Amino acid sequence: MTTVATMVPHSRPFIETDELQAAIEVLRSRRLTQGGMVEQFERGMAAYLGLAGGVAVSSGTAALEVALRALGIGAGDEVILPSYVCAAPLLAIQLVGATPRVVDIDLETFAIDPEAASQTVTSKTKAMIVPHLFGLPADLTALERLGVPIIEDCAQTLGAMEQGRVAGSVGLLSICSFYATKLLCTGEGGMVLSRDESLLERVRRLREYDEAPSLRPGATNVKMTDLQAAIGLAQLNRLAFFLERRSSIADEYRSTLDGTGLVQPIVPAGRTHVYYRFVVRLPHVAGGTDGLNEVIARFEGRGVQCRKPVFRSLHRYLELDGFPASEEAERTALSIPLFPSLTEEDLAQVHVALRSEWS
Ligand SMILES: Cc1ncc(COP(=O)(O)O)c(C=O)c1O
Repeated sequence: MTTVATMVPHSRPFIETDELQAAIEVLRSRRLTQGGMVEQFERGMAAYLGLAGGVAVSSGTAALEVALRALGIGAGDEVILPSYVCAAPLLAIQLVGATPRVVDIDLETFAIDPEAASQTVTSKTKAMIVPHLFGLPADLTALERLGVPIIEDCAQTLGAMEQGRVAGSVGLLSICSFYATKLLCTGEGGMVLSRDESLLERVRRLREYDEAPSLRPGATNVKMTDLQAAIGLAQLNRLAFFLERRSSIADEYRSTLDGTGLVQPIVPAGRTHVYYRFVVRLPHVAGGTDGLNEVIARFEGRGVQCRKPVFRSLHRYLELDGFPASEEAERTALSIPLFPSLTEEDLAQVHVALRSEWS
């Protein structure tokens, strides 16, 4: 196999003059910690989702943790979450001392299966973390019927619609991540958003420990800096462009892959996809994850970094059985590079690699 000189990475942040300028201005101001930029970023995100407000924090994981604490969730409470997602939701549940109740996904959409979730609801269920994976909203309409408070995890999905509602605007609380690979990036960072001002105030009081007359149980230091928020604001101004670019690259991938037998991203009626990831399923890959690893290695040889979109299903950490859809996704799902800073040369390289693998 010939190796190509340049590698198209799986992800690369879009950082241009606006972000550089925003960071320089904050540095010049000498006001580096949480301040006016953080407030502006919170207002901008809340306006985007049509919510009362947002509370910026240091990461998506911290956002999940303070969201759970703000709902008063702790020891003895159960929180439902899907198995096929990164470890952050599970860690957040464990950090507050609650019990995770992991359920399987709907393989078509990679999202939490509402039927499996409904079978897991008990009198101890206090919340359900609903990640919108890869840019596609979960079936919020079906999940709402369970009557369990929803924390929408929008770490991978901003601007996508479910039955006319923007993902992130439906749950009691929503969280975002602004990690370097995300739709909007600030390096590290996160936010909790809600239409409920009293919940937001509780999150604010958990985000920092200082200037309180008495110790607040659960309070910590998970603040965002103005430096991060200024970069986030510059990114938020570009979000419409980012989503347009992602959608047009997804269209190109779809036409290249048409007729190959791969399962392309599915968009159920009433939902839209923002293609945080372009994840295909390989129906004929060999058993275990060896087949997928071999495909990833061949792409690497052709100068394209593809990835398994979820490192390890959560039921495996908890040593549980009975998650066939999550395991099928682990075995067959492949994420192809899709991000707004892909150049025409990058894209040409990806298309050549796709055609060599599947023509
Ligand atoms: C669905 C989901 N939730 C939560 C997180 C956690 O975000 P962070 O990495 O900012 O802690 C991630 C991040 O990578 C994620 O993909």
